[in-house]
Amino acid sequence: MSGNNLVIEVKDIHKTYDLGDIKVKALKGISLEIENGDFVSIMGASGSGKSTFMNIIGCLDKPTSGEYYLDNNQVSSMESDELAEIRNIKIGFVFQSFNLLARTTAIENVELPMIYNNTDSKKRSELANEAILKVGLDGREHHFPSQLSGGQQQRVAIARAIVNNPSIILADEPTGNLDSQTSMEIMEIFKDLNRQGKTIIMITHEQDIAGYAQRVVTFKDGYITEDKRQTSQN
Ligand SMILES: Nc1ncnc2c1ncn2[C@@H]1O[C@H](COP(=O)(O)OP(=O)(O)OP(=O)(O)O)[C@@H](O)[C@H]1O
Ligand SMILES: [Mg+2]
Repeated sequence: MSGNNLVIEVKDIHKTYDLGDIKVKALKGISLEIENGDFVSIMGASGSGKSTFMNIIGCLDKPTSGEYYLDNNQVSSMESDELAEIRNIKIGFVFQSFNLLARTTAIENVELPMIYNNTDSKKRSELANEAILKVGLDGREHHFPSQLSGGQQQRVAIARAIVNNPSIILADEPTGNLDSQTSMEIMEIFKDLNRQGKTIIMITHEQDIAGYAQRVVTFKDGYITEDKRQTSQN
């Protein structure tokens, strides 16, 4: 399992949510390989399993069966503390609803992931400021989320996602709450991060947003029904 360029290798993953009487088969046998430095969009109807899949590759949840290798390490057999550590080092998350702490300033939100890994406070503010600059938010460091526009809040969330320098960024409908102009600005940031070598996997419902990726994977009813490469259109 070494010597290849795969960051993510998923083999026949199933995920069943057990709600007692009802069992929901959300993933019914997903196999996928993603190379280092790729930019992949995931599309598909509501309820097709996209977020379930992303939560598994992001080590937020475990599959019911199947194998998952992250950087050639088998993740599907790891315990949750080990998973949390891997997640903190390798993966940055961006969500549709930004998920910022409301009573915490922009810069403090960005510093948060470094509190979990015991970075000292001087280094923390140095790296947080660097990330804030990267996403074009200088001057807004001490604003609270409610004092920022949606696009600015998403920039904070992206700064928080990249501050630990992860190799993979997972984004679940990152432009879902943004107007089209702001969406394009956010996509330009993702494009830059991808150019700098980060692997990006992004769920979207919008065709033009998916156009930023080099590959589009389509989910339907717990299966992958299409997987195609494209020339990035934007
Ligand atoms: N925690 C959960 N418990 C039980 N069922 C769940 C849970 N999370 C998701 N599901 C079910 O699993 C299926 C897949 O859901 P998932 O959230 O992965 O879809 P999705 O493709 O992300 O949809 P959307 O585009 O609406 O976000 C759905 O039928 C959903 O109801
Ligand atoms: Mg979803």
